Amino acid sequence: MDENAKLSFDGKTIELPIITGTEGEKGLDISKLRKETGYITVDPGFSNTGSCTSAITYIDGEKGILRHRGIPIEQLAEKSTFVETAYLVIHDRLPLKEELEFYSKGFTKHSMIHEDMKTFFRGYPQNAHPMAILSAMVCSLSCYYPEFIKAEPTDDEIENIAIELMAKVRTIAAYTYKKSIGEPFVYPRADLRYVANFMHMMFSSPVKEYKIDPEIVKALETLFILHVDHEQNCSTSTVRLVGSSRANLFASVSSAICALWGPLHGGANQKVVEMLQRIHDDGGDVDKYIAKAKDKNSSFRLMGFGHRVYKNFDPRALLIKDQCKMVLDRLGIHDPLLDIAVKLQEKALKDDYFKERKLYPNVDFYSGIIYKAVGIPLAMFPVLFAIGRMPGWIAQWKEMIESPCARIGRPRQIYTGENKRDYIPMEKRS
Ligand code: ACO
Repeated sequence: MDENAKLSFDGKTIELPIITGTEGEKGLDISKLRKETGYITVDPGFSNTGSCTSAITYIDGEKGILRHRGIPIEQLAEKSTFVETAYLVIHDRLPLKEELEFYSKGFTKHSMIHEDMKTFFRGYPQNAHPMAILSAMVCSLSCYYPEFIKAEPTDDEIENIAIELMAKVRTIAAYTYKKSIGEPFVYPRADLRYVANFMHMMFSSPVKEYKIDPEIVKALETLFILHVDHEQNCSTSTVRLVGSSRANLFASVSSAICALWGPLHGGANQKVVEMLQRIHDDGGDVDKYIAKAKDKNSSFRLMGFGHRVYKNFDPRALLIKDQCKMVLDRLGIHDPLLDIAVKLQEKALKDDYFKERKLYPNVDFYSGIIYKAVGIPLAMFPVLFAIGRMPGWIAQWKEMIESPCARIGRPRQIYTGENKRDYIPMEKRS
């Protein structure tokens, strides 16, 4: 049954249609608000604003639920692979055997980047942040694969561009790392699956082949699965906003990589380890840093804590915590940063400040410790997040351009500046 809400103001009442999602979520459709009333809504940070309807990911932040295309993240983490989960989010169903093979083979076939693109890496300084290089390289793909940058691609073209992008981002990421350590690039191998191939390109060299440990590969694969999509977060909203102008997928994803880079978003995993290291180097006094995080005169925050949506627990953080212990045990590493992380978590979860504000560890709290144990350098952490998030960005971009009601994104504002005033010539200014 169609429902409406009533909004009364200035002595008149208007009706706003209520939109109900398949899980019972409700939203007020205000798309005609300005036309009918002259008013707009104001919602900094868009906490109460739905920018679209979407059938990809469902989150219930109060209950700690995360599902992709209806399937709980716990099941995907345990039973699926990254490539299969990527297929699921992009296609709205799990693949048949031959479809999965087509996808996997596509990733191998298209994993090389154009040889000319390799010369780009030479232009960057050695200490360039890999997220800057990744974003620039992904955008540059549009110069080398112009057949994929049509404003209105067909289904087959979207399928091909998705495979190209996921195949190549992994190679670009590994090359970025090789550039930073001054080693020659290592080509992908046709016999290795997605995550193992990435590890090979990262850690093999012309003189030493990296020994693939299936357990460690599985742990990284789980991390990639846990990052696949997370509905309308900052970087995904960026993909949709940039793509809404009909910018091609490479350009849209390149912008999302920049959005992800920030420390309040995908850059948080790097900041968590930097924070743990700082606490460790400062004598390991966890209480001191909890007090600092609560102090409103300090800009310090507990990185890896808090989430705009999860107000109970982040289901991804629970899964990662187990993986973290397994990886450290397997590699025989005792990382004092993990001890500090556990202590920090225990104390913060009992502290009224964090309890009242419903601040819990998020996905980034433990992922950095795993990356560090595996040998991935700090600056590469957000790059791994970007590889994991790629299927989600592609699925969201695809859903957006295929939507019959997609319009260019163009928020309004309430102007708070000067009223009209005249230009003053330089000699009369004081
Ligand atoms: N440490 C200390 N206090 C915090 C933290 C934190 N990590 N996070 C939020 N708070 C406090 C705020 O100071 C604020 O307090 P107040 O009500 O007294 O003013 C209250 O909790 C609400 O915080 P907001 O910043 O309004 O929450 P918002 O939803 O805008 O931000 C965010 C969410 C960005 C994740 C925030 O919690 C944060 O900065 N966390 C640390 C960075 C981080 O881990 N980011 C990764 C997020 S997950 C991801 O992107 C994959």
